Amino acid sequence: MISIARPQIGPEEEAAVLGVMRSGMLAQGEQVAAFERGFAEVCGVSEAIAVSSGTAALHLALLAHGIGPGDEVITSPFSFAATGNTILLVGATPVFVDIDPDTYNLDPELVERAITPRTKAIMPVHLYGNPADMDRLVPLAQSRGLVIIEDACQAHAAAIHGRPVGSFGTGAFSFYPTKNITTGEGGAITTNDPAIAEKVRLLRSHGQKERYNHVALGYNLRMTDLQAAIGVVQLGKLAGFTEKRIANAAYLNERLAGVVKTPTVLPGHKHVYHQFTIRVPGDRDAFARALNERGVGTGVHYPRPIHQQPVYQEMGFALSLPVAEQAAREVLCLPIHPALSDDDLATIAREVTALTEQPVGR
Ligand SMILES: Cc1ncc(COP(=O)(O)O)c(C=O)c1O
Repeated sequence: MISIARPQIGPEEEAAVLGVMRSGMLAQGEQVAAFERGFAEVCGVSEAIAVSSGTAALHLALLAHGIGPGDEVITSPFSFAATGNTILLVGATPVFVDIDPDTYNLDPELVERAITPRTKAIMPVHLYGNPADMDRLVPLAQSRGLVIIEDACQAHAAAIHGRPVGSFGTGAFSFYPTKNITTGEGGAITTNDPAIAEKVRLLRSHGQKERYNHVALGYNLRMTDLQAAIGVVQLGKLAGFTEKRIANAAYLNERLAGVVKTPTVLPGHKHVYHQFTIRVPGDRDAFARALNERGVGTGVHYPRPIHQQPVYQEMGFALSLPVAEQAAREVLCLPIHPALSDDDLATIAREVTALTEQPVGR
């Protein structure tokens, strides 16, 4: 089976982890600082703060901006649940607006219509590594005095007109094993605002200004040096991984042109293909099973929009967001990771084409 994701961990990462284990400095040592410097450079920002997960990054970004009870945050329903959950976890209200039918990212027009006096922030998601429409969202946020928190968990090194995502507002990234680079579990907040960086650093580590001087109620959401050591090596490989993902996608886009629909990439946007996603109108799950039987792994990101998750239904999110709901029924992710061989890519294109010509379960 051609796997849907495969972390690219080699002897360099192994040696780096061993080095940390032998150093005796397992937490908040040189590796975390080096990873933060390197990741800030990738994102074109002055500061990156490493944390334990992408969820922690979103959570601390919201807290650092003072977002809490009574505040509304406009975001996408077509994302991983952590996007909405972190808004709820700080006591604020997620306001889900529908996605654009072509990019699957937030529709800026609907965002504008959803702004109320309670709105504090817009949280666009750069879904699948395809940047959201920041050319429209940034001026909108600026004109209304709103904060932008980018859920860039899937979009390492994605960019718009050469400017990396995570630099348009406060960025939140994940380094989960399936992501474009990994630290096992891990996350980072990116910012050009020293005050936000300082708040995030405080909240990440028990609100301590210096050791045993607690000036805020904080958490322990730190990244270990073992994780950061993996991250430092991965950072050195990021450009190569990204190039390969983009080349793999170019091949599949060419072979599957006119066969299946894929998300639109806006002009000047650099999509880094965390996922390569096709639309399967009809019985998507039967199509996926047939593809699996032919040796091609698949994923569904995401089968249910956030507002339709049981926990949100219980909270009374009785919304109708038809574009996101239809996408959830139809999307299917194909393998795109950097370890795919030319043969793998040819197999994926051939089998998807064959199944589309002989529809399954439709
Ligand atoms: C869009 C999005 N937001 C948030 C997260 C949460 O990141 P993590 O799993 O590292 O907590 C993820 C990761 O799965 C994600 O894809």
